[in-house]
Amino acid sequence: MEAKILLSEKDLPEVWFNIQPFLPKPLKPPLHPQTKEPIKPEDLYPIFPKGLIAQEVTQEPYVPIPEPVREVYKLWRPTPLRRAYRLEKALKTPARIYYKDESVSPPGSHKPNTAVAQAYYNKLEGVERLATETGAGQWGSALSFACKLFGLKCTVYMVKVSYEQKPYRKTLMEIWGGEVFPSPSGNTNVGREILAKDPDNPGSLGIAISEAIEDAMQHENTKYALGSVLNHVLLHQTVIGLEVKRQMELVEDYPDIIIGCVGGGSNFAGLAFPFAKDKIEGKEMDIIAVEPTSCPTLTKGLYRYDYGDTAKMTPLIYMHTLGHTFIPPGIHAGGLRYHGDAPLLCALVDEGVIQARAYTQNPVFEAAVLFAQTEGIVPAPETAHAIKAAIDEALKCKETGEEKTIVFGFSGHGHFDLAAYEAYLQGQLSDYEYPDEKIKEALKDLPQLC
Ligand SMILES: Cc1ncc(COP(=O)(O)O)c(C=O)c1O
Repeated sequence: MEAKILLSEKDLPEVWFNIQPFLPKPLKPPLHPQTKEPIKPEDLYPIFPKGLIAQEVTQEPYVPIPEPVREVYKLWRPTPLRRAYRLEKALKTPARIYYKDESVSPPGSHKPNTAVAQAYYNKLEGVERLATETGAGQWGSALSFACKLFGLKCTVYMVKVSYEQKPYRKTLMEIWGGEVFPSPSGNTNVGREILAKDPDNPGSLGIAISEAIEDAMQHENTKYALGSVLNHVLLHQTVIGLEVKRQMELVEDYPDIIIGCVGGGSNFAGLAFPFAKDKIEGKEMDIIAVEPTSCPTLTKGLYRYDYGDTAKMTPLIYMHTLGHTFIPPGIHAGGLRYHGDAPLLCALVDEGVIQARAYTQNPVFEAAVLFAQTEGIVPAPETAHAIKAAIDEALKCKETGEEKTIVFGFSGHGHFDLAAYEAYLQGQLSDYEYPDEKIKEALKDLPQLC
């Protein structure tokens, strides 16, 4: 009975998995923000390197992982798949619970799986600096780390409320050479305009993305990097699920239920997509995406074309959205506060391959504390959403007596989130549901396209 299912470095996947050719219906194309026509690859050249644009649209089922990327991955990959024996015992469940531990990476989450790949492709094409946004600071630290390893500079626009809540994430970014601005900042036109109207604006991912894109477009040899949502980001994250498949084979098991938390959808997709292919091809399993009730994109958002950012600089993407003007309440799971979701994930939710559910904060932190007290690791608040769902599913098994296999994505640790835990322990967190009227209001701002 092994608690850690480990692979050796030679088992590190040599390819990423692309779900696109297996979709029941092809994705609706992204549209140009001005012309509203499908965008052409050239439209994206000012902000992304060609290598990544090609990955955005490829229909190849497997994409080779470049050797320099695999070499960096080896700093922490393959990551352990752990069996949560002590949590199972505490729940008295007959279910087998496994979790894929992405918290062992240097920045503490799954984010460097794509940060390293993105830094590599930019370096290959002579880019000197990357500009990006970050919510909780996980993505900004992952990109700062990756840029340092490939000799690039990195500028990070960090959502102001997180910048204030998480000063040590900023320090981490600076250790890896990143330059960090609270967003909205005085560094860009978008930021200056927002601050002029509302000096206390708490920021949002939508605003930070606009700032980072503006920075990239206005500077030579600078490009933009996004930490979630886009097809190439999800592609890079599939190294997670591909490893889990091998690890499950080692213990001769296969998931009945796969669970992950969703901000933009990248860690979830990384774990779930290699299995979603099996489901599309007939295998039975439940695949559950978990989000907060305060930002209920998949469970309550509209499935429509919308902008990816507040200033309408990104292409229009077909996704579940709460509206690009959405400013979320300052809940502690900062990484789950984006107004939209990955189009690939939305398409599979729409097809019924993946189901979505939402939880409020307090039960999520309760689950996180139980996890920390049994399995030891303090989870990131984002990750705790997946833990809550895994516990609920395990408790259902207790009622029915079913010995199901549950696998969830442990997307990151919470060592920089202790202020949130403190607030929870002191009973200061409120449970917030994003009101339906607000969703109706946001509908008014959506571009009038179907
Ligand atoms: C630990 C952790 N998990 C999950 C997420 C959500 O992002 P995504 O849905 O892209 O995996 C974040 C985002 O910052 C994060 O830091």
